Amino acid sequence: MCGIVGYVGRRDASPILVEGLQRLEYRGYDSAGVAVVNDGSIRVHKAKGRVSDLLAGLPKRFGGTIGIGHTRWATHGVPNEPNAHPHLDAEGRIAIVHNGIIENFKEIRGKLQSEGVAFSSDTDSEVLAHLISRSKAEGLVEKVREALLSVEGTYGICVVDRDTPDTLVAARNGSPIVIGIGEKENFIASDVAALVRHTQQVVYLDDGEIAIVKANEFQTLGLDLSERTKRSQKVDWDVGTYDKGAHDHYLRKEILEQPEAVTRALSGRLDTRFSTSHLGGVELDPKEILRIKRIQVLACGSGYYAGLAGARLIESLSRIPSSAEPASEFRYRNPIVDPDTLYIAVSQSGETLDTLRAVQEVKRKGGMVTGIVNVVGSSIARECGSGIYLHAGPEVSVASTKAFTSTIVAFALLGLHLGRVRDLSPSDGARIINALSSLPDKITETLQTEEQVADLAKKYLDSTSAFFIGRVNGFPIACEGAQKLKEISYVHAEAYPASELKHGPLALVCPEFVSVVLFPNDDLYDKNVSAMEEIKARNGPVISVGHNPELAAISDDFVRVPSSEPELDSILINIPLQLFAYHSALIRGVDIDQPRNLAKSVTVE
Ligand code: G6P
Repeated sequence: MCGIVGYVGRRDASPILVEGLQRLEYRGYDSAGVAVVNDGSIRVHKAKGRVSDLLAGLPKRFGGTIGIGHTRWATHGVPNEPNAHPHLDAEGRIAIVHNGIIENFKEIRGKLQSEGVAFSSDTDSEVLAHLISRSKAEGLVEKVREALLSVEGTYGICVVDRDTPDTLVAARNGSPIVIGIGEKENFIASDVAALVRHTQQVVYLDDGEIAIVKANEFQTLGLDLSERTKRSQKVDWDVGTYDKGAHDHYLRKEILEQPEAVTRALSGRLDTRFSTSHLGGVELDPKEILRIKRIQVLACGSGYYAGLAGARLIESLSRIPSSAEPASEFRYRNPIVDPDTLYIAVSQSGETLDTLRAVQEVKRKGGMVTGIVNVVGSSIARECGSGIYLHAGPEVSVASTKAFTSTIVAFALLGLHLGRVRDLSPSDGARIINALSSLPDKITETLQTEEQVADLAKKYLDSTSAFFIGRVNGFPIACEGAQKLKEISYVHAEAYPASELKHGPLALVCPEFVSVVLFPNDDLYDKNVSAMEEIKARNGPVISVGHNPELAAISDDFVRVPSSEPELDSILINIPLQLFAYHSALIRGVDIDQPRNLAKSVTVE
């Protein structure tokens, strides 16, 4: 979603801003813009479409050693040039970029219009530029503060003022802002991806904080302008980890990276002596673990499907009743927060607003919450205060692949940890440890199915729809398989529990409707065969994914994957589904890494 960059230093700002915006493209956006301050004036250049469109039209003389940039994902007002950020006040004195939503903008806009202010966009954000400029407060930071006190909603902002040409002011409430610390230059961004080419030393702003950033120094304040001392930290990910390398798409790169991602997720966390796991970030002592009566996972999108898989996994390893719910549903239904429930927030980006709000709701009601997050230092990770980092490396493609897999691995580690304090026997613990240790090699082996799966994507090119059918451990994977296919190839796809087929969806089965039936290594094999037979009896073509060679004879197409333990098998079954979605998108010639209408990190309601 929307992205912010800011620069102040000695170098020409605009190439740094544009390059920073390119690094944020993966988040999804529909227009972009930059503003620089030079010789007592602010120059703005914006474009609808891609950062490359912005760059193509960028005037040759666009000098200035301080500036701000933005990629916009439209919320209020269509994607066009006037609505793109940065926004100026009426006199062209202040320029702002804003992520988030100003909820009371209509009221403020009406009031400002009645005072004679002319607006140049339909956005909620523009009110901020006018409010800051019209503030009677003394300095820039005081003016920004006054403006922020009169708005309701969420914001991450960065501001430049033509009369204070050595200073960026940034602030955060619900939308991330990070300061990048350089040598005689400093940066602002909404995502470290925009900074890592220049510095790995960063300071994260917390909600309700303002930063004053100059080339040689920065200061962080509360909204009451009291000093907040903050330490800088080093980001693990360097610029190389964001590169596509020789791959045509980030999605394929990230699918192929899964063996290493899983190795990193496991690294230093398996304890063969006591057949358990060590999770340094999960601060639960055995007595607390024994008190847990329920586990509830809260997440969105693929994180939610990983959560469904994770809840089943944890329940089977620890025998603690576990479930998953979309974080957005949870936060709006006035949930009963039980002190004996462990809530687990899952988020690749750590910035999904619905998940963040769900965590805050749990905490506000006195609940116990921990996180499974990929991005270190992200809002959800910090709000949870404890949890498991995935260490999957940056995931750039909008559709999640390696983070999905690593999340299930993290659940397995947590299930092992909780289970070994409760009912899981040492031998079962050892069985799970062995299975986890062999996962990276088995994933590598499963990735060998790519050529066969690519042929299947061609064979079923004319299918207008697809069913993904799974049972128990297979069902969350069926959900993720359907999600992957629809989000990147735009083929209509739905997931059903195998036994639900006959209760309605079977009506749709016909030769043009392919079904992908999943056969994890569990004792439900025969039942899954029956579900497949129901489809075949209605002339529906079936691709089966599993490890029993018999499936080759009884389905139209069979993708064989190695088997693991029943609890972990679905991780392997999911990999051909990722490849199927990728190749289905590839032959359709669509934008695989940035599917239409979607964003990587959904930081709005
Ligand atoms: C967006 C993305 C999905 C992602 C979901 C949750 O909808 O398009 O790919 O699964 O957000 O993101 P998170 O970063 O919280 O895991």
